[in-house]
Order: sequence, then C-alpha cells, then structure tokens
Amino acid sequence: MSIAIYAGSFDPITNGHVDIVMRANQVFEHIVVLVMQHSQKTGWLSLEQRVALVQETFSDHPSITVETASGLLAQYAQKRGIQTLIRGLRAVSDFDYEAQMALANRDICPGLDTVFFMTSKEYAYLSSSVVREMVQHQASVAHLVPAPVQGMIEL
Ligand code: COA
Repeated sequence: MSIAIYAGSFDPITNGHVDIVMRANQVFEHIVVLVMQHSQKTGWLSLEQRVALVQETFSDHPSITVETASGLLAQYAQKRGIQTLIRGLRAVSDFDYEAQMALANRDICPGLDTVFFMTSKEYAYLSSSVVREMVQHQASVAHLVPAPVQGMIEL
C-alpha cells in the first residue's frame, strides 16, 4: 500500500491543510497526518487539542490517520517505514525553506522523498497564524477552517 506522511503543527488545522491532505490521498492510498511541535513556535492550542481537531476533521476518512511525534520528522518516518513526505507549496516564498527541509530530511534518512502539492489558489494566502489573528479580533473564519475548528472557536 502506498503511504505518505503530512506533518505540521496544525495550530489550528485549516482548509488549506485539508485541501492538501485530500488531494494527496488521491495519489497515496494512506496518509498519516502527523501533528508535531515546532521547535520555534510557542503554540496557541495544546498538542492534545490540535490532535483532537485533526482527528475529528478526518473522522469520516479511514484512509487518513492521525499520529503525533516529537523529535525529527525523518527519524519518525524511518521508524514507521514510510518513505514519502507530503508538503504543500503556497508561493515561491515557500520554496527556499521547503527545499532546505526536503534536503535535510533526506540527509537524515537517505531514501526519504518529499512530494509537493501546489496549494489551491483560494488558500494561497492562508496560514494558521492568519486564522489565529482573525479569531483574536473576532473576524469570521468559518470559510477558512474545518467544522471542528469552527465549533471550538464558537464555544
Ligand atoms: N494551507 C494553509 N496553511 C499552510 C499550508 C497550506 N497548504 N501549508 C503550510 N501552511 C502554514 C502552516 O499552518 C503554518 O502556519 P503558521 O506558521 O502560521 O503556524 C505555516 O504555513 C508553516 O507551515 P509548516 O512549515 O508546515 O510549519 P509547521 O509549524 O506547521 O510544521 C514541521 C513544521 C513540524 C513539519 C517541521 O518543523 C518539522 O519537521 N519539525 C520536526 C523537526 C525536524 O525534523 N526538522 C527538520 C530537519 S532538521
């Protein structure tokens, strides 16, 4: 079975992430959405909250599972025996960072490849921090986040 990991901090998961996962799942039979803690990000939601929201988002999709890990992504992929990472590209500005990460991950784990999906144009400007800032200033994000995130915001 073809399987790939889509890792991120998902703080919170947005429709841009969902778009990448669903499209990647057309190419790979199984997607592991891996919720990680970014070493330089303090975090808005707890790891447990982020995992729960990602799980709820994909609860109707048995070919998409959610896991969590700390440490290096490449080492986790190696431990799981998975050889493909998925990343989304939103703009040219993402490229330098993504190329660096792809090469670093391959250096840590030779044989580990990164497959890039171009983000759909309606989400090209979207990031978790855009969502966080809009929420903090009471702007509606209903069109930008999956239903479980919207539900949490409305609580
Ligand atoms: N749609 C919407 N937003 C998107 C997106 C998309 N398709 N793709 C990325 N983003 C957003 C993310 O939400 C995030 O927003 P934020 O910065 O406002 O929170 C931003 O773009 C950056 O995304 P990303 O680069 O995926 O960062 P991340 O923090 O979500 O995840 C890890 C990064 C966890 C995958 C990475 O740090 C990692 O691999 N960590 C483990 C340590 C490691 O192995 N390091 C590499 C080798 S040294």
